[in-house]
Amino acid sequence: MPYEMILTETPAPGVGLARLNRPQALNALNSQITREIFDALEAFDRDDSIGCIILTGSDKAFAAGADIKQMADTDAVGMMGDDFTDWSRMSRVGKPIIAAVSGWVLGGGCEMAMMCDLIVASETAKFGQPEISIGIIPGAGGTQRLTRAVGKAVAMEVMLGSRNLTALEAQTAGLVNWVAPVETYLDEAIQLASKIAEMPRVAVRLIKDAVNKAEELPLSAGLDYEKRNFYLAFATEDKTEGMTAFVEKRKPQWKHR
Ligand code: CAA
Repeated sequence: MPYEMILTETPAPGVGLARLNRPQALNALNSQITREIFDALEAFDRDDSIGCIILTGSDKAFAAGADIKQMADTDAVGMMGDDFTDWSRMSRVGKPIIAAVSGWVLGGGCEMAMMCDLIVASETAKFGQPEISIGIIPGAGGTQRLTRAVGKAVAMEVMLGSRNLTALEAQTAGLVNWVAPVETYLDEAIQLASKIAEMPRVAVRLIKDAVNKAEELPLSAGLDYEKRNFYLAFATEDKTEGMTAFVEKRKPQWKHR
């Protein structure tokens, strides 16, 4: 499928990479670029050769937020009719998505990174939700996901005070998995993705699904949900292979079934 605002590649076996590529606007997220990203993520999700997905931007900007120029002349009814901050398509991707981010990770850019399952950041990454500076509030999950990730105190400071977190602050606060030099963060994300892509894929999908449910469910309902996914894993050929390989002291040969 031809894309105009993103690039896609397979940088390692089993790894699909989608790159925001709108440098003149610091990868600001308009309707077209978000649609292309969701199309690419869904295509990788359907592709049996892919086990893990990376979403990245440039070293200068993962994304500087939703496109303010697109929103400037849009009223509430226009926003309701436009799907560019309805990112539910991304939530339905079953394979893990790693955000590999650098430079500006602002507004909708921060919200898109937080919709990924892991975040690898370059030392230059700056995370923020500066919507208050343009008279609005975060609208693609920032008030909810940032608060869950870093707690109320830091979330309030970021959103009310329009204060950006450095990569190390974001890691300390629990938003980011790890921080690497700008020269290597993408390679490190690819290594992590390769490792995940080698895992039995049904178990990978069931873990992603259950961990994400932990954000939404009370503990007892979450434990019930986990148990159902656990039992489902016992219905896979990879469960038999994994346990047999352990007993026979050999490496498992995953069938992803
Ligand atoms: N939307 C549209 N265009 C943007 C943009 C955005 N969010 N961010 C940057 N750009 C454009 C600029 O307009 C500029 O284009 P022109 O050369 O045509 O004028 C180009 O990208 C480069 O930007 P700057 O010249 O501003 O670069 P800088 O290095 O001086 O500053 C910056 C970088 C601090 C990130 C600054 O661009 C900025 O503040 N951007 C806006 C950040 C923001 O407010 N994001 C939140 C958006 S609202 C949102 O995301 C809502 C939501 O929750 C979904």
